[in-house]
Amino acid sequence: MTSNQKINWAIVGLGRIARIFASDLIKVPQANLYAVASRSFEKAIHFSKAFDVNHHFTQYEEMLQDPNIDIVYISSPHVLHFEQSLLALQHGKAVLCEKPITMDVNQLEILIDLAKKKNLFLMEGLWTRFLPSFEYILDKLSSPGIGKINLLKSDFCFKATYNPADRLFDKKLGGGSLMDVGIYPIFMSILFLGIPVKVSASSIMLPTGVDASCTISFEYSDGSQAILESSIVYDTPTEMMLIGSDGRLVLNGPFYKSEKVTSYIDYQLEEKIFPLEGNGFLYEINEVHQCLEQQLMESQKLPLSLSLIAQNLMQEIRTQINLSY
Ligand SMILES: NC(=O)c1ccc[n+]([C@@H]2O[C@H](COP(=O)([O-])OP(=O)(O)OC[C@H]3O[C@@H](n4cnc5c(N)ncnc54)[C@H](OP(=O)(O)O)[C@@H]3O)[C@@H](O)[C@H]2O)c1
Repeated sequence: MTSNQKINWAIVGLGRIARIFASDLIKVPQANLYAVASRSFEKAIHFSKAFDVNHHFTQYEEMLQDPNIDIVYISSPHVLHFEQSLLALQHGKAVLCEKPITMDVNQLEILIDLAKKKNLFLMEGLWTRFLPSFEYILDKLSSPGIGKINLLKSDFCFKATYNPADRLFDKKLGGGSLMDVGIYPIFMSILFLGIPVKVSASSIMLPTGVDASCTISFEYSDGSQAILESSIVYDTPTEMMLIGSDGRLVLNGPFYKSEKVTSYIDYQLEEKIFPLEGNGFLYEINEVHQCLEQQLMESQKLPLSLSLIAQNLMQEIRTQINLSY
């Protein structure tokens, strides 16, 4: 792929996030939203009209047979990510799959093996990693700044309207707070602290059998700690805070799409604003484009090894809170 060629995207699952993603995608000059697939013909037509898409399908496999498609964005409920990513890779397409990329470690290992065998790009859609505010935090850490990180605190809690049939609450669709939003604080801990030596988790469960809230503590071999929280039944500030020996850095809430970083170093408070372009997906899309242009099989900023660590940790947490899908 050369830099003056447009990249043809296809989207699978035309729900809430697909619309938000598509409205950013169509603003990227190098991207062409080429095709969409929905279970519903009417929805596919409606979405195509809204985003000027020329090809729409009700059968995923039929869409994937189109040789013009370069990459598929998968934005269906969690439980479908594995089979749909697998199908896309089998048809020779690169894949950007929404979080969580799979429901367990085994599924992710299968996807990684296939992507490697077929030399195809594969990435989990953890868009926060590419935000300017997040990049700034990384820069700040590379200078002496806050010193050694002793504690990472992060929460992602929001109050959703209880509806047992909604994918957020429905166990058959992979519902629960851990898999939906707990994954963000978990990724923060992996990005800043690595792999913990001890995992402790507890949860409050819902009548649908999924976790309403989950509280997690990770301990690391260097003595540092992460305290993480997720919920779909109550709101919290939804921040990410790094507390070091010489100061603190805060990715202000909502941290997953943060526009502000606050630092307290040497008793000096500094606030930096990073206005998001569009809905904030442009940065992730640009990263994917750069990887495709350079024929990389994975992003260096969000390698699949990190997704594997996240899946391993979530598997351990699910064992501790007695949650299985
Ligand atoms: N990055 C982010 O900030 C972010 C934010 C929200 C969600 N997400 C992720 O994106 C994924 C989708 O979330 P969403 O909030 O967009 O969900 P949603 O509104 O429920 O949309 C999911 C879409 O998947 C399709 N689908 C295919 N088979 C389905 C089935 N059996 N049951 C229900 N839907 C089915 C449906 O589209 P059709 O009717 O067109 O087939 C549905 O509209 C989730 O995995 C979530 O974790 C990411």
